[in-house]
Amino acid sequence: MPKIRCSIFFSVFFLVISLSSSTLFAQQLGYSSNKNALGSQAMVVSPHPLASEVGLAILKAGGNAIDATIAVQFAQAVVYPRAGNIGGGGFMVIRLNNGETATIDYREKAPRKAHRNMYLDQAGNIVPGLSTKGHLAAGVPGTVDGLIQAHEKYGKLPFQQLIQPAIELAENGYPVSQTEAARLNRFQDDFKAVNDDPNPFIKENWKEGDILKQTLLAQTLTRIQQKGRAGFYKGKVAKAIVKEMKEGNGIISRRDLAKYRAQWRAAVTGQYKDYTVISMPPPSSGGVALLQLLKMVEDYPIEDWGFHDPRTIHLMVEAERRAYADRSQHLGDMDFYPVPIDSLLSKEYVEGRMANFSPKKASLSSDILAGAFQGQIKESFETTHSSVVDKDGNAVSLTTTLNSNFGCKVWVDEAGFFLNNEMDDFSSKPGVPNQFGLVGAEANAIQPGKRMLSSMTPTIIEKDGELFMVIGAPGGSTIITAVFQVFLNVAAFGMDLEAAVNASRFHHQWLPDRILIEKNGIKEELKEKLKALGHQMYEVNYMAVIKAIHRLQDGSLQGVGDRRNPDDDAKGY
Ligand code: DON
Repeated sequence: MPKIRCSIFFSVFFLVISLSSSTLFAQQLGYSSNKNALGSQAMVVSPHPLASEVGLAILKAGGNAIDATIAVQFAQAVVYPRAGNIGGGGFMVIRLNNGETATIDYREKAPRKAHRNMYLDQAGNIVPGLSTKGHLAAGVPGTVDGLIQAHEKYGKLPFQQLIQPAIELAENGYPVSQTEAARLNRFQDDFKAVNDDPNPFIKENWKEGDILKQTLLAQTLTRIQQKGRAGFYKGKVAKAIVKEMKEGNGIISRRDLAKYRAQWRAAVTGQYKDYTVISMPPPSSGGVALLQLLKMVEDYPIEDWGFHDPRTIHLMVEAERRAYADRSQHLGDMDFYPVPIDSLLSKEYVEGRMANFSPKKASLSSDILAGAFQGQIKESFETTHSSVVDKDGNAVSLTTTLNSNFGCKVWVDEAGFFLNNEMDDFSSKPGVPNQFGLVGAEANAIQPGKRMLSSMTPTIIEKDGELFMVIGAPGGSTIITAVFQVFLNVAAFGMDLEAAVNASRFHHQWLPDRILIEKNGIKEELKEKLKALGHQMYEVNYMAVIKAIHRLQDGSLQGVGDRRNPDDDAKGY
C-alpha cells in the first residue's frame, strides 16, 4: 500500500552479480538451465527451467503449442515474478502448421480515468517516477483474458489442466535461482516503498535455494481455473485490485476490469528475400519496425560484407535510426490513431527513407526527423518471452511483461501478484523520453481505454512457406534491433542459432543519437572505423535477451536461450 518514493532504478552491480555464478548450486535447486537443446519433435524456450518443464509436460501430454504457451505463461507468473505475470499484458503470435496465422493483443489499457497530462505537474513537467512506480503507473491488466481467448480459439487440452502446474508451483513454493535472489534483494526498498503490508517478496537477504511460496497467488489462479475470466476481472480478485487502487491513489476501477477484452489482430507480415516475417502489429511497434529494417537493408550485399563488418553495422544502424524515428512519430494504438502501416512498409516509402543514406558518413538524427532528446536510457531487463513449437509444427511466439522489474512494485494485497507499470510506455509528454529513452507524440498520447505503444516483437519466420524460426525477447526498445540482428545472423551470415543469439549486438533508436554496444562486444579497431564515419558509441552491459527456435533443414528443432539471462532454458524432445 501507498508510500511512493523514488529510488535508483538500475544498478550495474547487481547485474554483474546476477550474471556471474548462477548455476553454482544447480543440484540443490532441483533444476538447472540448458541453453541449447535439440528436439526431433517439439521445443520450448522460456526464461526459467521450471516454466520450460511445464511447457514440455503439456506438449508431451498431447497439448499443442498454444496450450503449452498458456501453461508456460501461467508458470512464469509464479517462477519468474519480475516479468511473468497475471498483472500485466503481452502479445501472442501464432502460426499453425497449415500456414494460418493469428495474433492476440492482450496489452494493458489506460484506465477510464486516465488522461493525457496525468503524469505532469502544474508547470507541465513530468513528475519523476509517477508513471513508473506505485499504483498510478498501472494499466488495466490483459494477460488473463488474452490467455483465455487464445485457449478458446486454439486450445486442445482443458484450460484447467494448463493452469494446474502454476497453482502447484505457487502453493508448494519453489527454490529461487541465484539470479532471482539477486533481483529480489535489489528491489527490497522499492517493495517497501509502495507496499505497507508484509508479502512473500519482502524479506532480507534472499539466497539461492530459498523457497518462495505464493499462497494467495495460488488461490487467485484457482479462481481463474474455476471461473475463467470472471475469476480475475470480477468478484474477489477484481475487488482486491480496486481496494489496492483506492489505498494508493490508483485509478483502475471495477468497470475498467469488467470491460477489459484482449483483441485478435491480423499479423503484420512481409517478405525479406525468401523469408516471410509474421509479427505483431500495433499497439506494438515491433512488427512494423522489424519489417522496415529488413526492407531497408535487403538490397545491400551484407552477406558479402559479413557480420560486424563496419559497412554492415553502419548500414544497419542507419536503418535503425530511420525506423525508430518513424516509430516515435507514427506508431500507436490503431484503435485510436490511424497508423499508416501499409505506407510505412511500402517499397517506395522505405526506399525514400534510405535515399539520403551515405555509406561514407553517419546521418544526424536531427536531420532525419525533428526532435530533441533529454535524459538517459536506463537499462532494465524485465519482460519475458517464450517460443514454442509442437510435434505437428504449430508455433507460438509470446512476449509478456510488467514493464519494469516487478512492474510498479505494487503487490495486490489480497490477490497475491504484482501490477504492471506499463503506463510509462505512453508518451507522457511529446518529445520527453520514457524509461527506455523513447520519445513519442500524438500517436502514443494517453487516452482512456487506449493501449500504450510497445516494442515487443514476438515473431515467426517462414522460409519458402515452411516454418523457419520462432523468435522474440525482453529488452524494451532494444527488442526490435535484437530480433533483426539474430535473424540476420542466421539468414544472412550463416550462423548456427546458438552463435547467432550469443553474438554481441548493437542498437540505435534515433534518439539519443548514439549506438549502444555491449561491453567487450565490438573490437577496438571496428569502433575506430565507426567513429571515423561519425558514429558515437555508448557501452551497456547487455541488451535484449533472445529466446528462439530454429527449424533445421532436416526438420528437427534447435532451441536456444540467451547467455544474457542465466535462467533462460530450452527443452525439447
Ligand atoms: O512493451 C514494451 O516495449 C516494454 N514495456 C517492454 C519492457 C521490457 O522489455 C523490459 N525489459 N526487458
